[in-house]
Amino acid sequence: MTILNNISLKEYNTFGIDVIAKRFVSIDSVYQLQQLLKKEKDVFLISGGSNMLLTKDINKLVVHINTKGISIDKEDDSNVYLTVNAGENWHEFVLWCVSENYGGLENLSLIPGNVGTCPIQNIGAYGVEVKDCITKVEALNIDTQKLTTFSNADCKFGYRNSIFKQEEKNKYIITAVSFKLTKSNHVFNTSYGAIETELKGKGIINRNLKTISDAVIAIRNSKLPNPKEIGNSGSFFKNPVISKEDFLEIQKEYPTLPFYKVSDSEIKIPAGWLIEQAGFKGKRFGNCGVHDKQALVLVNYGNATGLEVFKLAEKIKDTVYTNFKISLEIEVNVI
Ligand code: EPU
Repeated sequence: MTILNNISLKEYNTFGIDVIAKRFVSIDSVYQLQQLLKKEKDVFLISGGSNMLLTKDINKLVVHINTKGISIDKEDDSNVYLTVNAGENWHEFVLWCVSENYGGLENLSLIPGNVGTCPIQNIGAYGVEVKDCITKVEALNIDTQKLTTFSNADCKFGYRNSIFKQEEKNKYIITAVSFKLTKSNHVFNTSYGAIETELKGKGIINRNLKTISDAVIAIRNSKLPNPKEIGNSGSFFKNPVISKEDFLEIQKEYPTLPFYKVSDSEIKIPAGWLIEQAGFKGKRFGNCGVHDKQALVLVNYGNATGLEVFKLAEKIKDTVYTNFKISLEIEVNVI
């Protein structure tokens, strides 16, 4: 465990923003982390770096969580119970589950980031949220260095939300996540239109974990930029939830407005649609811009600063508000 000085974080965040960590350390065991936290309280954590926009150099000690390993806790004919260390790459873990015929996470293929951060914003895609498979989360209390177990209910999961983004924000470091997955009688969630269309388009009749994972990968690749090629953080904004009355007003003017019913009085509408209507889709502003195939994704063309991206986000928010009277909420963590 060596503390390094003046390290660029460009390779450690999927937006590819080049800020400097004054001090940087990579840890590969919970024990190392406990020892470190006894001496250093003011730390900045980085794991997969896939849900953050860095707007300034980091003067705190940057701790890169790099703990690896998957263990099978128990299994029976129907289910397997796994515990996965925080530093495992999410997509590689999902692919491993698919290859082992463990079902539940296949719709979440190709989501950037690491296992340890998946509960924080309850990652979700194509009709599945990770909360559906999480049994518990193990986390280290930064102040006491004690390990605490949060049950699924303790995590208070919501849409792109959990206790780790609310009352317990910045108090814990997630060290491992446990999952319950199916070994037989898999429940295939293909209710999300695009998956069925993709499978039918390829003439795939056989539904299995691999064909669904492959379909999700194909859909994501066609819409979302690969962070290895063009810096981004996935959805930059949350999909806003508005009242039914406001929705009906907008729908009068835009009858094709896509929407999802949240409750009898609330409707969620895609932020990507609002941003596209506001004229930003595919537009470039200096070193950053709005992705041409999914307006919810802001991209770094190579040399953008975090502030440039943040200013673009503000401009988008302002225009969407002027046009629709809807306030977009940023989904990524702006540092
Ligand atoms: N749409 C537009 N223009 C756009 C983008 C989308 O009109 O530029 C419309 C689409 O036509 C569609 C609707 O918006 O009718 C929904 O689009 P999409 O299926 O792409 O999903 P989304 O609501 O934009 C959410 C998640 C994504 C996830 C997809 C698929 C959020 C904030 N985003 O996007 O998550 O992959 O559903 O399930 O909930 C992420 O969080 O990083 C992420 C990519």
